[in-house]
Amino acid sequence: MPTRPDPITYLDHAAEAGRGYKRRLLDALDLRPDHTALDVGCGPGTDLPAMAERAGAVIGVDLDPAMVGEAERRTAGLPVEVRQGDAHALPVDDRSVDRVRVDRVLHLVADPSAVLAEVRRVLRPGGRAVLAQPDWETLAVDPGAVATNLAFTRFVCDRIVPNPVVGRQLARLAGAAGLTVVEVDGEVLLLRDFTTADEIFGLTRNAHRAVRAGRLTRPAADAWLADLAAGPFLAAFTLFRVVVSAG
Ligand SMILES: C[S@@+](CC[C@H](N)C(=O)[O-])C[C@H]1O[C@@H](n2cnc3c(N)ncnc32)[C@H](O)[C@@H]1O
Repeated sequence: MPTRPDPITYLDHAAEAGRGYKRRLLDALDLRPDHTALDVGCGPGTDLPAMAERAGAVIGVDLDPAMVGEAERRTAGLPVEVRQGDAHALPVDDRSVDRVRVDRVLHLVADPSAVLAEVRRVLRPGGRAVLAQPDWETLAVDPGAVATNLAFTRFVCDRIVPNPVVGRQLARLAGAAGLTVVEVDGEVLLLRDFTTADEIFGLTRNAHRAVRAGRLTRPAADAWLADLAAGPFLAAFTLFRVVVSAG
């Protein structure tokens, strides 16, 4: 039975697959040497060194102590402080940061609106945040039965990802949290390698979970996975990016 790789390896592989996307997020942050920048849900510190190259001080916050430990290890000697904490109650003072980055965290949290209110609270007036989220409903793969693709996506959205469509909701939720929406953009992550897509989207492991949950039949899941593995393979996944400011 395929298992999910350990979370740090998983995030490293996802970052590698989304290198261009991450570079565009960094550019959108528009960091300056006099800035203090915050990375909410910083994971193993993937983006902290690049942020520290541009900003004077960087804070990473993550809920998971293992992520915090790895982020500290990867940023030793840099002007980076990693704090363990919950994005719903950020361990950061009011109006104390110039830039906030939230990359692929809101689909996991209990209350995305509460996290956006925290982003609003910690931003200095005139500060900027860059929010980025996929929309899990948009996962399209080929070859293989489209009906199985749709049933797989429905299962993942119903049972695996807590907030699967928060990407398309970002601008609206940010506006409701008192942030000013400056820019709304999107891009498609295109993968043509089945092994990479299988790891990142959990095609095999979640198809097997869908079978166990009675949401896919075993023959349909097996045929779909065999078709995908045979290729030529393509996966497309929409990622939304919203730039906001605090007035
Ligand atoms: C998909 S990873 C993204 C990591 C990183 N932002 C990146 O782009 O590579 C999501 C991260 O959010 C963290 N996380 C989830 N819920 C959180 C919460 N309520 N507060 C803070 N961090 C949270 C997880 O521990 C994980 O490290």
